[in-house]
Amino acid sequence: MTIRLAEGSLVVLVGPPGSGKSTWAAEQFRPDQVVSSDRVRALVGEGEHDQRAGKDAFDVLDLVVERRLRRRLTTVVDSLGTDAKRRRGWLAAAERAGVPCVAVVFDVDPGVSRSRNQERDRPIPAKVLSSMLAAWPGARDGLADDGFAAVHPAGPVTVVAPDLVTAPAAAARQKEDPMPFEFGLQLPRFGWPGGPAETRDRLAEVAAVAEETGFTSLWVMDHMMQIPGVGPHWEDMLESYTTLSFLAGRTELARLGTLVTGVTYRNIAHLAKIVATLDVLSGGRAICGIGAAWFGREHAAYGWRFPPLSERYALLEDALELLPLMWGKGAPAYSGRTIEVAEAVCYPRPLQEQVPILIGGGGEQRTLRLVARHADMCNLFGDADTVRHKLEVLHGHCATEGRDPADITVTHLGTADAPNVDDHVGRYRQLAEVGVQTAIVSFPETATPEAVSGFADVIRAFRSAQERSPTASA
Ligand code: CTP
Ligand code: MG
Repeated sequence: MTIRLAEGSLVVLVGPPGSGKSTWAAEQFRPDQVVSSDRVRALVGEGEHDQRAGKDAFDVLDLVVERRLRRRLTTVVDSLGTDAKRRRGWLAAAERAGVPCVAVVFDVDPGVSRSRNQERDRPIPAKVLSSMLAAWPGARDGLADDGFAAVHPAGPVTVVAPDLVTAPAAAARQKEDPMPFEFGLQLPRFGWPGGPAETRDRLAEVAAVAEETGFTSLWVMDHMMQIPGVGPHWEDMLESYTTLSFLAGRTELARLGTLVTGVTYRNIAHLAKIVATLDVLSGGRAICGIGAAWFGREHAAYGWRFPPLSERYALLEDALELLPLMWGKGAPAYSGRTIEVAEAVCYPRPLQEQVPILIGGGGEQRTLRLVARHADMCNLFGDADTVRHKLEVLHGHCATEGRDPADITVTHLGTADAPNVDDHVGRYRQLAEVGVQTAIVSFPETATPEAVSGFADVIRAFRSAQERSPTASA
């Protein structure tokens, strides 16, 4: 059976001499991921056989393991692994680093171990090997009590993102007892072949395919240049609200929004006007994504002020108060922390009685408090454990603010980088179980119609539940 290993895990090999540990490690991992007691003994002593250097070797090995775990590097400890005290030491090191620690067990026929031993340049004395082999079954059976996250028999390894280790089981739960879940598509890159001359056709095609595939919302970033981590800053980047208004004309059903509008880029009354217009021209499909902005370089490039964080939060809170006033009836004056408006007036008003406001980010002190106070939707990142924690924090703020958490739609932004449909389904099921209602998916490369329609099976796995309990949908 294939071992699904969380990236960044510590893997402790356990098996008698000649059971194939080093051979397996060399087949399944890069040489630098394997920390071998034999190799370290050769470094600090006269050679791999230098048993007198054993203590020094394990001191160095432990240090290397500890430093690698700090960096979240997948690490394999290749030693006999039969010393219970050493195993406890590695388990504790993994726990301190907050990474999973698994054992991989190498069972071997004693005869095979003996004959392999004899073929070695420096065989272990027969008596020593015999006593090791005699102790092996006891050592092997005792492993279950050590506290490893898993004890695997040796086999081929797939290293996956940590949340995908448990994805197959979650996918099975989704099959048995489906939960409803919605999908949005984020388009952060516009580098289609053919360049700008073809951009409008390619964008319209991807949007149409997204709607056919079952994505219920389309999102663009609100950036003037490509952001670090996604692509080079000179990459093509379309202006957000111009793009959304194009999509409003070329799509029928999908909700449309930014992930998210930086509060610093536009006069907020003007932003309200833009979003109201988008809502009218899209037939009531606008969502107003907003956040505190972060991309300093872009502000400098465009000559915008990039005030300190506290001022950006003050501006954001003003925006959260002013936007609904702008979209509401009448023309009230607004005087906030940083914004003065003589008449909050905007006709036509949006078609939606309440344009949903989505606040991006999971900052626990400020952002999530603003979500509890003002937002209809939040947008979080990370795996299910991370999201669970963020939602606990959010619910705490809701209690303080007297807000019903059920009134806040939880969305999640992530890159679709899982290897197959089941992994995707399992990952989204785990998010659904901790309280996410909508996953907003982006692709690492510019979205193609094929990549988008390739998501159909994932969306279908959540569809059946949607149809069964329409009231539960977000
Ligand atoms: N070997 C083999 N078939 C396997 C695994 C190992 O023929 N499936 C051979 C290897 O080629 C090597 C010998 O068995 O010649 C011992 O394998 P090794 O991986 O070195 O075993 P270890 O468990 O690492 O032994 P030690 O504890 O002595 O380091
Ligand atoms: Mg070995």
